[in-house]
Amino acid sequence: MENKRAQWGSKLGFILAAAGSAVGLGNIWKFPGKAFEGGGGAFLLMYLLIVPLIGMPAMLSELAIGRASRANVVDAFGKLGHRGWRWVGWLGWAVAFIITCYYAHVGGWVLRYVFSYALETRAVYADPKGYFYAVLGLDAATGATFFPWIVLLFAFAFMAICAVVIIKGVEGGIEKFNKVGMPALFVILLILFVRAATLPGAADGLRYMLSLDWAKVTPQTFLIALSQAFYSLSLGMSIMVTYGSYLSEKEDVAKNSFLVCSMDTLVAVIAGFIVIPAVFATLGPDGVGKGGGFAFVSLAGVFEHMPGGALFGLLFYVLLLFAALTSTVSLIEGIVAFLIERMGWKRTPTTIVTCAVMFAIGCLYTCSQAAYPLKGIWFDFAHGVTFPPLCDAMEFLTDRVMIPLCALGCCLFAGWVWKPENVAAEVERCGTKFALAKAYGFLIRFVAPASILVILAVSLFTGTTLS
Ligand code: PHE
Repeated sequence: MENKRAQWGSKLGFILAAAGSAVGLGNIWKFPGKAFEGGGGAFLLMYLLIVPLIGMPAMLSELAIGRASRANVVDAFGKLGHRGWRWVGWLGWAVAFIITCYYAHVGGWVLRYVFSYALETRAVYADPKGYFYAVLGLDAATGATFFPWIVLLFAFAFMAICAVVIIKGVEGGIEKFNKVGMPALFVILLILFVRAATLPGAADGLRYMLSLDWAKVTPQTFLIALSQAFYSLSLGMSIMVTYGSYLSEKEDVAKNSFLVCSMDTLVAVIAGFIVIPAVFATLGPDGVGKGGGFAFVSLAGVFEHMPGGALFGLLFYVLLLFAALTSTVSLIEGIVAFLIERMGWKRTPTTIVTCAVMFAIGCLYTCSQAAYPLKGIWFDFAHGVTFPPLCDAMEFLTDRVMIPLCALGCCLFAGWVWKPENVAAEVERCGTKFALAKAYGFLIRFVAPASILVILAVSLFTGTTLS
């Protein structure tokens, strides 16, 4: 096994890879719906404040921890001299593991829909909901359930693509893949934007997204925007620490954090300017929703009523596919990097075995959607102990507890333990001055941790999923 640590081949390669991680399903199928519910432009404005004030300092901290330690996420904290904080790394590693189990399966559903739109758009249009249930193993008309082996095969294919990229390594796999995938994603995004914006009736949606409807903004809206920012920027899950550890000393981590956060936000905002106007123009404002149900079911109505809809539908799922692939790849790298370094295992077998295990666990996720009544267990103070479907319980665990906890750990570590001075020194290693060091110190010590604590408390006490 090579002892020399891998490194990104180019600055652009790193930025595209980190942006590829951040730009995921969350940007495309969650952000627009949340922005709609949160008052359109008012939500956008709030989000555009949250990203630089909270998201960016958190991203900078994770990248700096990674680059300074040049280690995987678990060992990073120890290498910086604080072994007691390795729990943050373990947590990040575990989050990445659990999320990959289901994210890769959802990626498989997306891949299935790429084929559906390419080959049988009529069947999707005829009964979008029934079609989606059938994909997941439920015949909605009769209530009969069956083993959804076709979609599991697609999930397997999705995971296999990611595994191949990881096996090829940081520069030869991840970087190369993102250098093709991310520009492709941007091109598709622009095509879809032009299509949506030129639909008759789209102007109402655009106007809504630019209007400041403060009546729809509640404290809850702020929390939703906040947790969306964390999820969307891939914070609190070991990824940015790992990706930062492959970054050369010549790179300015602060500037890179800025670029990655900006790209992620830009994609989310453009997605909002695609989805909302398109739904307004075809189904009307009542058609807006978010998440998987919206993307796989409601959007069929949008494409059906749009000139050239089958083609744009296909492009849309290809867009989702790229977004999901580049995010999953980043998750797997976080997991595999630790196993390779700590256990001394080789990259190829480690990747194959972990991906196989995660795929297998993910089968339970897909099967518990509709085909089988598999249950998980959950607790919050509003509802006590409940037994939600296993798929929901998995998401609650990561989104409501583990991600915020790990993100909180990273902020506290950077702000109070390792100290902002060291982060600043890490930034200045490339030779430029970190002009915003003071502001960073304040945000990472007080603003970011306080905000995350509120997210944690709200989800534990009220049982709302904020992501
Ligand atoms: N940032 C991703 C998104 O917006 C979320 C994500 C990335 C989740 C990587 C897991 C892993 O969808």
